[in-house]
Amino acid sequence: MTANQPAPSLAAPSLFASERQRFLDLHPRSLALGRDATQHFLYGVPLHWMRDWPSPACLFMQSAQGAHLICADGLAYSDFCLGDTGAMFGHSPTPVAQAIVQQATQGLTCMLPSTRTAEVGRLLAATFGLPQWQMALTASDANRFVLRWARAVTQRPQLLVFEGCYHGAVDDTLADLQDGQVVARPSVLGQVHNHAAFTRIVPFNDLAALEAALSDGQVACLLAEPALTNCGLVLPEPGFWPAAQALCQRYGTLLALDETHTLSTGCGGYARVHGLAPDLLIMGKAVAGGLPCAVYGFTDALAERMRQAKQAAPEGHSGIGTTLAGNALTLAALQAALTRLHTPGNYAHMLALADRLAQGLRERIQAHKLDWCVTQLGARMELQYGSTAPRNAQEVLQASQPALEALLHLYMLNRGVLLTPFHNMLLVSPATTQADVQRLLDVFDAFLRDLNAD
Ligand SMILES: Cc1ncc(COP(=O)(O)O)c(C=O)c1O
Repeated sequence: MTANQPAPSLAAPSLFASERQRFLDLHPRSLALGRDATQHFLYGVPLHWMRDWPSPACLFMQSAQGAHLICADGLAYSDFCLGDTGAMFGHSPTPVAQAIVQQATQGLTCMLPSTRTAEVGRLLAATFGLPQWQMALTASDANRFVLRWARAVTQRPQLLVFEGCYHGAVDDTLADLQDGQVVARPSVLGQVHNHAAFTRIVPFNDLAALEAALSDGQVACLLAEPALTNCGLVLPEPGFWPAAQALCQRYGTLLALDETHTLSTGCGGYARVHGLAPDLLIMGKAVAGGLPCAVYGFTDALAERMRQAKQAAPEGHSGIGTTLAGNALTLAALQAALTRLHTPGNYAHMLALADRLAQGLRERIQAHKLDWCVTQLGARMELQYGSTAPRNAQEVLQASQPALEALLHLYMLNRGVLLTPFHNMLLVSPATTQADVQRLLDVFDAFLRDLNAD
């Protein structure tokens, strides 16, 4: 997720104003909690992005279970945001909740591997297809560690990412293309070092630009989501990944696929489903059912190069890892998630229901003769305001309508349907029901009617 300040609606100002008022009328307790929390939390929230939802005040949650959330005012929501993917397998999935309860009295963290370690390693290898693994607490951390390893083993300085990418709070990736030049993203606070000097950026789906960026042999690693999911959903064109993978191999660049969001594709993630052979895979958020946990996997050949790089380095801190990574509680949750959540059965439910939702949205778009489309990646989809799916971040930018997105988000929220803020992303979980999908479609129908009338 990337946080942007939502723009006020220019598309339907009176509807936007009435929706803002409706939110305020419906949520007196959230408003009071917000005022109270402001005393000791910056912006009244534990993480400042939480304030960036398009609602006029922050929605405080009381509880969440499966695909449903109850807010502080006791209102129930069908949740298609799902913690922006952390809860992709549903909120508090029972096997993970039980594993956490059981482990919680037997040691949370000891800076030692727990007895589950070997089994969790086997499960990771079986689920995602790479033989070697390490753990971190967040996907941001895992990506940072992957970049360190990649630069250490290749002895190359440069990182390559796609325009519009988001890989978490990773300095090297928080850069933009401006008139063909890579520049550090101006909104990033407290920047001292010019990370842009070590980052190259090319448009997604552009093999010629990719080859040009790789061809001087200075790029340690291409860090990429298999589909862009954070600037908007942008799917790879047919043949793009096999060709991109071959280019990485030709120029000795490691291919690191960040599957944190593309786990929605199918069981084992995009690379598994599409038969890609990355050097590294990164996953966080939902990988252990929503408990803070991330993993990164790599090939045996790369593991050997990592051992050599570590051995060749002077004694001391590697700059890789944090104290709580791989703790006993997380391992217990990860084991439960790998055996009971990352299953073909769960994905069969998610994908079938997501297909129905996408189809329902398309039918309504067509009925209202709108120039919009729905782009889908397995259990994840996005409503986009152009007649064809974008091919890269620039096309997303050209088609984007932040005011309309904010209005739709708020309208849905006011009627018990949560979408991902900022770009109307929808995610279906194993706990999502046909009734949730119907509820969303009914509210979408009402939205289109009201938008037309405004
Ligand atoms: C593809 C991808 N990678 C990494 C991250 C970072 O995850 P976290 O914020 O949990 O560190 C995100 C966050 O949205 C993401 O979308």
